[in-house]
Amino acid sequence: MTILVTGGAGFIGSNFVLDWLAGCDEAVVNLDALTYAGNLRNLASLQGDARHRFVQGHIGDRALVDSLLARHQPRAIVHFAAESHVDRSIHGPGEFMKTNVEGSFTLLEAARAHWGSLDDAAKAAFRFHHVSTDEVYGSLAADAPAFTETHPYHPNSPYSASKAASDHLVRAWHHTYGLPVLTTHCSNNYGPFHFPEKLIPLIIVNALAGKPLPLYGDGLQVRDWLFVADHCSAIREVLARGRVGETYNVGGWNEKTNKEIVHAVCALLDELRPSAAGPYARLITHVKDRPGHDRRYAIDARKIEGELGWRPAETFDTGIRKTVQWYLEHADWVADVQSGGYREWVNRQYGA
Ligand code: NAD
Ligand code: DAU
Repeated sequence: MTILVTGGAGFIGSNFVLDWLAGCDEAVVNLDALTYAGNLRNLASLQGDARHRFVQGHIGDRALVDSLLARHQPRAIVHFAAESHVDRSIHGPGEFMKTNVEGSFTLLEAARAHWGSLDDAAKAAFRFHHVSTDEVYGSLAADAPAFTETHPYHPNSPYSASKAASDHLVRAWHHTYGLPVLTTHCSNNYGPFHFPEKLIPLIIVNALAGKPLPLYGDGLQVRDWLFVADHCSAIREVLARGRVGETYNVGGWNEKTNKEIVHAVCALLDELRPSAAGPYARLITHVKDRPGHDRRYAIDARKIEGELGWRPAETFDTGIRKTVQWYLEHADWVADVQSGGYREWVNRQYGA
């Protein structure tokens, strides 16, 4: 049996592929365009592992997707591939529309054609798992209840609007064509292989380099943080036992302000890698706010907990410690990402 993973060289996708193959022998075909966010070095431990087949390509390449589905006959597609960074979507929304909207549309059409060609048993077992985000629900007031699965959509950034559009396509392909879909809406992830354009890895690498730690606006925006391995275990549960056509919110009940996050990272670095120049918090710098910045996200995860018995394994304290330690132990990964060397890593590692 095989699954097709899209975006499996990115932050969450690579964690998912590694976790998946650590837990079972079901093969993974990994389709990833290797944009700036894709890093095959994340998957270096799978080199020579016949269970992992990497294919460089765009989800919007219909002929390529059709040929992969025909050749490998996956029993499921787990769709991570996306442009994922809100700040980049503000500067250049075009790529977000191409991948997140048009790319998802093409993938859905290819999945529908493939699914339609299966026999009844394979058709019933097939799943299209769409990895979405809590950002599609928009921003919460400080005292508002956390997002449930029935919260109205209010996307506020080009990124979240593009993810919302893809969610609607997934829903429609189920409702109209019967494609057996599942959608998960996860809160902010953190952990190994997180590209240092996002808050937590950016703070770690800047602090270690003695650079300013930029906090947007007043730094009191709230996010709900989940260790990436817990997101991966939630996807596995939903894929295995989630009800077709349903959506599941995934979160760690860990609401924190950005200021709290940055101070927590600084305190861990003070403990694990003290700086002769003094506490890392001295580097915190308030900078101009993100345009349209959502004030608060919070996930109500009772549906996935109640129906599927899923629970996060990490608390914020254990997860953030593991994360900071991982970055301290992987200075070569960070250096390669910062220099851009990771983009040549495949050639260096595997030759031409
Ligand atoms: P990422 O930016 O780290 O990785 C995205 C991956 O997709 C990269 O490997 C990239 O090369 C690949 N990709 C981009 N465009 C592609 C295309 N057209 N065809 C094939 N591959 C392409 O993103 P991430 O943080 O790992 O997020 C993965 C998914 O999870 C996204 O759909 C995102 O919306 C969702 N999500 C992320 C978070 C989070 O906190 N990071 C939280 C909830 C949901
Ligand atoms: O909520 C899930 C989403 O989380 C995912 O769908 C996105 O793909 C993922 O990128 C993430 O989006 P955010 O915008 O919340 O993540 P980011 O790390 O960019 O920012 C987290 C918070 O920190 C946010 O309030 C903005 C703030 N921030 C971010 C950066 C990069 C700063 O204050 N300074 C910074 O330099």
